[in-house]
Amino acid sequence: MPHARNRNPSPIPEVTWDTGLKEMNETWKGAIACLGVAIFFVMTIGIIYWQVVDQPNKNWILKGSFSGLIWERRTQTLVFQTLTEDKTFAEIDVGNVGNPDGEVPFVRNLCWLNKTEFCYTWDSVAEVRISLETEEASETECYSVTWSPIHCHVDLKDCFSMVNVSWYGGAGVNTPSWPINDANISMQPFTVSDLRDNPSGFGSVLERYFLGSSGVSVLVAPNIPLHVGMESRQQFCLQTLPSMERMPMQYTVCVGHNIKAVHQESMQQLSTATRELPNMDVLRLPFWKLSANVDSRAKLERELRTFSNRLKRHHLGEGVISLDEHSTALLSNMDHSYLNSKRRTSKRHTRDIPFVKLLNISITLSPYLSIDSQQFQTSMQEGIEDYWLSLPLGPQGRPVPLLTQWKGKYSVKLNITNPEATNWFLDKVDILRSHLGMEYVILEGGEGNPFEEQSLHPPLALVGDEYIGLLADLAERIEDNAIVTSGTRSSHKPLFIRMSGVESNWSYSGLKGIIPSLLHHSLLGYNFFIPDAVGGSLSIEPVTDEELFVRWLGIAAFLPVISFQTPPWVFEKEWVSATRTSFVLNITRFYIAKHHDFVVPLILKYTEEWQKNGTPIYRPLWWLSPDNPITFTIDDEFLIGDEVLVAPVTEKGALQRDIYLPESDFQWQDTNNAQVFDGGTFLESYPVGLGDVPVFIRWRS
Ligand SMILES: *[C@@H]1O[C@H](CO)[C@@H](O)[C@H](O)[C@H]1NC(C)=O
Ligand SMILES: *[C@@H]1O[C@H](CO)[C@@H](O)[C@H](O)[C@H]1NC(C)=O
Ligand SMILES: *[C@@H]1O[C@H](CO)[C@@H](O)[C@H](O)[C@H]1NC(C)=O
Ligand SMILES: *[C@@H]1O[C@H](CO)[C@@H](O)[C@H](O)[C@H]1NC(C)=O
Ligand SMILES: *[C@@H]1O[C@H](CO)[C@@H](O)[C@H](O)[C@H]1NC(C)=O
Ligand SMILES: *[C@@H]1O[C@H](CO)[C@@H](O)[C@H](O)[C@H]1NC(C)=O
Ligand SMILES: *[C@@H]1O[C@H](CO)[C@@H](O)[C@H](O)[C@H]1NC(C)=O
Repeated sequence: MPHARNRNPSPIPEVTWDTGLKEMNETWKGAIACLGVAIFFVMTIGIIYWQVVDQPNKNWILKGSFSGLIWERRTQTLVFQTLTEDKTFAEIDVGNVGNPDGEVPFVRNLCWLNKTEFCYTWDSVAEVRISLETEEASETECYSVTWSPIHCHVDLKDCFSMVNVSWYGGAGVNTPSWPINDANISMQPFTVSDLRDNPSGFGSVLERYFLGSSGVSVLVAPNIPLHVGMESRQQFCLQTLPSMERMPMQYTVCVGHNIKAVHQESMQQLSTATRELPNMDVLRLPFWKLSANVDSRAKLERELRTFSNRLKRHHLGEGVISLDEHSTALLSNMDHSYLNSKRRTSKRHTRDIPFVKLLNISITLSPYLSIDSQQFQTSMQEGIEDYWLSLPLGPQGRPVPLLTQWKGKYSVKLNITNPEATNWFLDKVDILRSHLGMEYVILEGGEGNPFEEQSLHPPLALVGDEYIGLLADLAERIEDNAIVTSGTRSSHKPLFIRMSGVESNWSYSGLKGIIPSLLHHSLLGYNFFIPDAVGGSLSIEPVTDEELFVRWLGIAAFLPVISFQTPPWVFEKEWVSATRTSFVLNITRFYIAKHHDFVVPLILKYTEEWQKNGTPIYRPLWWLSPDNPITFTIDDEFLIGDEVLVAPVTEKGALQRDIYLPESDFQWQDTNNAQVFDGGTFLESYPVGLGDVPVFIRWRS
C-alpha cells in the first residue's frame, strides 16, 4: 500500500543579517537586496536564453583526422562531414528515435574524456554509442553506431538522406534502377523474397550494404532483424521493430575521399571469406532455354532432337540446352523412381538416354516436391516426414509437413537442415547425372519462406532468407556445376547466379533494367551471373519485336553468359531467299563469336583482381571518374575492367545516342571504326546502326 512520506516541514531558520551588516543603514540594505535579486534574474534569464535560444544549432560530437560527426539539433540529424565542413558525406535523420515533441540538445558526451567514443542516453527511449574506428594505412574512417532501446516498445529507425547523394547497393527490385534513389519501397523485412509473388519487395541479390556517391558506405550488422524502406529521392530507412529482446540497431558508416576508395575498403569488411571461383566453363557456351510444352518423355526427346538439329542447321555452334523443372522431371521420369534409391534401385525406372548424353544440357531442380507426386506419398508411408519442412503438431508430436505453393501446385519444401534429407537430394542429383550426363544443375526456389508466408514462427536456422544460404551450401556440394537463382551473404561461393526473368519490353522492367541490374550484381560481388534470356523471358510467347531482340543481344554479348529463350530463327521470314541469310540469325552468330573471343578472355583477366581484392569485374563509370558527378547517374553504359567501355542503345527506334567517356587522362578508341576520342567528354548523338554496339577500348598513343 502506498504511503505518503511523513512531511514535517521545519520552519525556515531565520536569517541573521545582524552580525555583518550591523553598521549598515536600512537604505543600503534595501539597495543590496535589490541588486542581488536583479543579478539573480539576469542570470536566470541568461541561462534560460542559453539553454533554449542561443545554443548552437549544431555541435561536433566526434572528430577524426579528416571527417567528423555533427549533431544538428534543429533537424534532429547526425551529419557526417569533413572537418572543414565543405563536404557532407551523409545525413541521418534520427528524429524517429528521439522524442518527436521536444528538441534534444544532445551535447553531453557521457563517455567523456574519450575522444573516440560518444555516448548519449535519450531519455527513456534509447542509448546511442558511436565509436570512431580508424585503421592506420586505411584511407577511410569508420563510425560504428549502436542504438540500444531502453524498453521493449521502442522502434529504432534511422533514415539516410538521398538528397544530393546517389546511393547504390541494398537489394534487387522488380524495376532496377542505378542509382537506387528512385526506388519506392514500403518498410518491410530486408530479406530476399520471390519477386513474382511479392513484386513490391526486395529480391536477389541482397546485401546489408549501401554505398553513397559522396564517399560513404553503410554496413548493417548481420545478426539483427532488419527492416528497410525507401522513399524515392528522399531517404532510405533502417528499422528494427520493438521486441522483448530489445534488439539493438547496429551499423557502421565509413567515409573516405571518394566513392571508389570507400567501396574498396568496405568490400573487405562485407565479405571476409576467401573468394572461390565457380566453374568458368559456364562462360564459354550460350545457354538455350528449351521451351517445350509437352507432357511426355517421348515428345520431349523429340523436341530436344529437333532443337539440337536446328542449332546445327543454323550454324549456331555449340551450346548448353537448358531444361526447365517440368522438362527435367519428364526426362528423368523422376516421379516413378522411388525415394529410397539405395533399397530399390531406380535403374529399372530411369533408363539411360544416350542421345541426351551427347548434348550439353542443364537441368533444373528445386527443393519443392508436389504432394501429388509418388515420391511424396512414399515418404509419408515410410515415415520420413522430417525430410520436409514441418510443424511438430501431429499425433504423438509427429511432424506434419508444411504445405506451400510452388509453380501453382501444393508442395512441400525440403528440410534443408536435415542431413539425411540433403543427402537424399544429392543422391538424386547423382542418379540423374549418370542417366542424363548433364553439365549443369540449376537450383531454383531458395527464395520464399513457407513459415513466414503463413505467419508461423520458423526455427531459428530458417528465419528470413537463411534458406538461400543453406541451398547455396547444398549447391556447392554438387561439384562445381550448380547454378542458383538467388544470393545473399554468398558472393564468395563458387556459384553462378541466374538472374530473375524480365519483361519483353523497353522499360526498366525489361531492356533498360539490364545494365542497372548488372552493375548491382557486380557491385555486391556477384560477378558470375547468367542474365535473363535475350528478349526477356517473362512472357510465354516468343519475342516478336526484332529490334528489341537485336538490341538486347547487343547487351547480352558483353555479359558473362548469353542466354536465349526465343531462338533467332523465329525471325526468319519466308521471303528471305536461300542465298541471303536472315539478319537476326547472322547477327546472333556474330555476337556469340564476339562473346567467345573478346568478352570471355576479358572476364577471365579481371577475375584475378576480383579474387584478390573483391574488385568488381563489371564497373560503373564512376569507377574511373569517382569525383565527377556526371558519372553517378549513368545507367546505360558500363565498363569491363578498366579498359573496355560498352554503351549500347536502349531506346526503341534510336539510331544514335549520347555517350559519356570518363577520365580525362585517357583516350578511348571506338572498336567499330577506330576513331579516337578524349576521355572526360560527351559524344552527342553518336550514330549507332541497328546491329551495332559502341564499344570503346582504352587507347594509349
Ligand atoms: C574509449 O573507448 C573505446 C571503446 O570503448 C576504448 O577502446 C578506448 O580505450 C577508450 N579510450 C580512452 C582514452 O578511454
Ligand atoms: C543539395 O545541393 C544543392 C545545390 O548544390 C544545395 O543548394 C542544397 O542545399 C543541397 N541540399 C542538401 C539537403 O544538402
Ligand atoms: C511511393 O509509394 C507510396 C505508396 O506505397 C505512395 O503513396 C507514394 O506516392 C510513392 N511515392 C512516389 C514518389 O512514387
Ligand atoms: C559440350 O561442351 C564441350 C565443352 O564444354 C564441347 O567440347 C562439346 O563439343 C559440347 N558438345 C555439344 C554437343 O555442344
Ligand atoms: C528438420 O529435420 C530435423 C531432423 O534432422 C528436425 O529436427 C527438424 O525439426 C526439421 N525441421 C523442420 C523445420 O521441419
Ligand atoms: C513493360 O512491361 C511492364 C510489365 O508488364 C509494364 O508495366 C510496362 O508498362 C511495360 N512498358 C512498356 C514501355 O511497354
Ligand atoms: C553478317 O554479319 C556480319 C557482321 O555484322 C556482316 O559483316 C556480314 O556481311 C553479314 N552477312 C550477311 C550474309 O548478312
